[in-house]
Amino acid sequence: MNGMKGTDLVGLFTEHLRLCNVKKGEVILAFTDAQFAFPEYPGAMLAAAHALGAEAFAITAPSDAEISAQLVLDAWKSADMVVAMTTIPWLYTDAHNEALASGTRTLMVHEPVANLKRMFPNEDVVRRTYAGAKRMAEASEIRVTDSAGSDFTLRKDGRKGHAQVGLADQPGRWDHWPAGLVATGPLEDTAQGTYIVRAGDVILQQRRHTVSDIRMTLEDGLITSIEGGLDAQLLRDYLSSFDDPDAFRFAHAGWGTEHRALWNVVGMDSESLYGTVMVSPGRNIFNAAHEHSGLGGTNYTRAHIDLCCRHKNLYLDGELIVNEDEEIVPEYLR
Ligand SMILES: [Fe+2]
Repeated sequence: MNGMKGTDLVGLFTEHLRLCNVKKGEVILAFTDAQFAFPEYPGAMLAAAHALGAEAFAITAPSDAEISAQLVLDAWKSADMVVAMTTIPWLYTDAHNEALASGTRTLMVHEPVANLKRMFPNEDVVRRTYAGAKRMAEASEIRVTDSAGSDFTLRKDGRKGHAQVGLADQPGRWDHWPAGLVATGPLEDTAQGTYIVRAGDVILQQRRHTVSDIRMTLEDGLITSIEGGLDAQLLRDYLSSFDDPDAFRFAHAGWGTEHRALWNVVGMDSESLYGTVMVSPGRNIFNAAHEHSGLGGTNYTRAHIDLCCRHKNLYLDGELIVNEDEEIVPEYLR
């Protein structure tokens, strides 16, 4: 599962779909939009699916479409696999949850081809991520600390351990290629304490590294203050713009497992870098039939922003999982 340098686009998608268990007789659907940044992807994916003996089709929507038409839901549900190549917000929708519940597997692809190749699905990432998701599933409490003063806890009793490895290879599973991370959807009222996003961390949807610390205070699941300089102001402005208290509620938390991710590349690299911690306020209704896919949250706010953070300690029920040197500490999770 390594070494995709020099492979052409159809070859790259063929190898990837093979790992997603696409086979003769299956129906594979590309879901894309009219202004998708990589218009060559859907055609290459269809050719790859066809080469593997599957029937392949595409739906193209306007770029500002809402996922509400019955036609889209029916198509997603009747496909074996949906490959979404779009920036339309489809992931956190009831329609997506319904498609996953019906057994459809879904894959998100919207990163440049260099990233798809560099972080092509990898056996070590798959193994350590699923081991992490299993450990996360068993845990009740997550605690995050650091030497800058973070001391933050949240509860997840009964919530899943979510794995992302870049492969939608089993029924009812969502994934994003490329990716390597473990996450969970915390219970909505439980985030407590102080969380510091440090200078040099990434605010993903703002596509930038911070230049100053952001100090967040959390009570009963809600961010009650965001202090600092420009970076704090931008985060506060974003969350306030929805005029919705639920925008300030934590959606997911977890750690990165991808040893090939690069911190200077903003995107899935930021979410996936080995030994980093990601926490994210906002919408988290996404759920899936698969045991290690989905968050199972109840927050429908329209906000969602990923805070990708370096040099944190992350504990599950008191067991140190990731340390401030960005090591995954337990041998069984490395
Ligand atoms: Fe997120």
